[in-house]
Amino acid sequence: MHLFDQVSPAPADPILGLSDTFRADPRPEKVNLTVGVYQDEAGKVPALRSVTEAELRLTKSGRNRSYLPISGLPAFNEQVQALAFGEGSLLPGTGRIASLQTPGGTGALRVAAEFIAQVLNKRSIWVSKPTWANHPAIFARAGFEIHDYPYFDAKNHGLDREAFINALKAIPEGDVVLLHGCCHNPTGVDPSAADWEQIAGICRERKLVPIVDFAYQGFDRGLAEDTVAVQAFAATDLEFLVASSFSKNFGLYQERTGALHVVADKSQAAGRVLSQLQVLVRTMYSNPPAYGAHIVATILNSTELRAQWESEVAGMRNRIRSMRELFVQHLKNAGVSKDFGFLLEQNGMFSFSGLKPAEVEQLREEHAVYMIGNGRINVAGITSDNVERLCQAIAKVLS
Ligand code: LMR
Repeated sequence: MHLFDQVSPAPADPILGLSDTFRADPRPEKVNLTVGVYQDEAGKVPALRSVTEAELRLTKSGRNRSYLPISGLPAFNEQVQALAFGEGSLLPGTGRIASLQTPGGTGALRVAAEFIAQVLNKRSIWVSKPTWANHPAIFARAGFEIHDYPYFDAKNHGLDREAFINALKAIPEGDVVLLHGCCHNPTGVDPSAADWEQIAGICRERKLVPIVDFAYQGFDRGLAEDTVAVQAFAATDLEFLVASSFSKNFGLYQERTGALHVVADKSQAAGRVLSQLQVLVRTMYSNPPAYGAHIVATILNSTELRAQWESEVAGMRNRIRSMRELFVQHLKNAGVSKDFGFLLEQNGMFSFSGLKPAEVEQLREEHAVYMIGNGRINVAGITSDNVERLCQAIAKVLS
């Protein structure tokens, strides 16, 4: 008997595992609509020009190579705090937010999970049905009991508002509730500004602990506009958490660049929270990777680079929107009778296509078209080159 005989193989990750299968697929015509990564018109994951320029400046500046503080680069934390809470928000100036640079948005969620479980001693979380596959996995790994609340109306391809709101009202007092700040993953369906006010009000009334997962800021209507959910919570006296990712809006997928913001009722409490977060980080990964944070801080601290970055985010957002239109048009052209017009109402990178697991499998096996098993499509993977083939394949599978 050897030590590792008892180790059974783990299943492949439902998202990143598919990327591996895609990479290994030898068919040259293959189309990747799986992982949430922005691709440009040429099907490439681009380096943003603002990022490349920031890298050049960083190389020239001869930056400090020592460890970052446990909580990360101070200039980064300050800038991304202002970004997440929105221009003109008074919260960042109050000292009520404990901000911490984390290895990506996933790192922010994992640190949040450890903090809530170990320091606040809460282990019950509610996630939307459906949600990003890693949400329940992250919190279950940290010892949480996972519950879900209704969210998506599959028949109308929109928000199941009434069921969602009623379910929120019934969540036991003090429980944790995970919400998507914008561009809901996987459905692309978001609450309206008025809904967010109502949601924040219910969270306050029920004394829930909201975590806003804010991984797609800038991909719905704009960097400032997309703070609507965070602002709705900030407008109350609620204590809540925000997990930000800069993988998508800066294209820093490899640099693992994210942030966790914990909003406390007063600045002394935020200080205590930060001290506990630092202990957790020190025992998990010591301190965060520096490179991505330097890039983000360099861009956000420069008027010129910031303006360039904002226009590049708008460019990505607009390309995705135009791909939604092209996709719907080409599905019609390919003779698909089902109306896919709902794709135009959905936000961000993802859409829930409504394709069934067997259809998704057939698309992959017979047509080399890859999407997530639950029918989620990364619209940012569509280009004017692949859209026709993609739609013909869907037409064949649906016929
Ligand atoms: C996704 O949902 O595809 C992205 O958030 C990437 C990931 O880590 O799963």
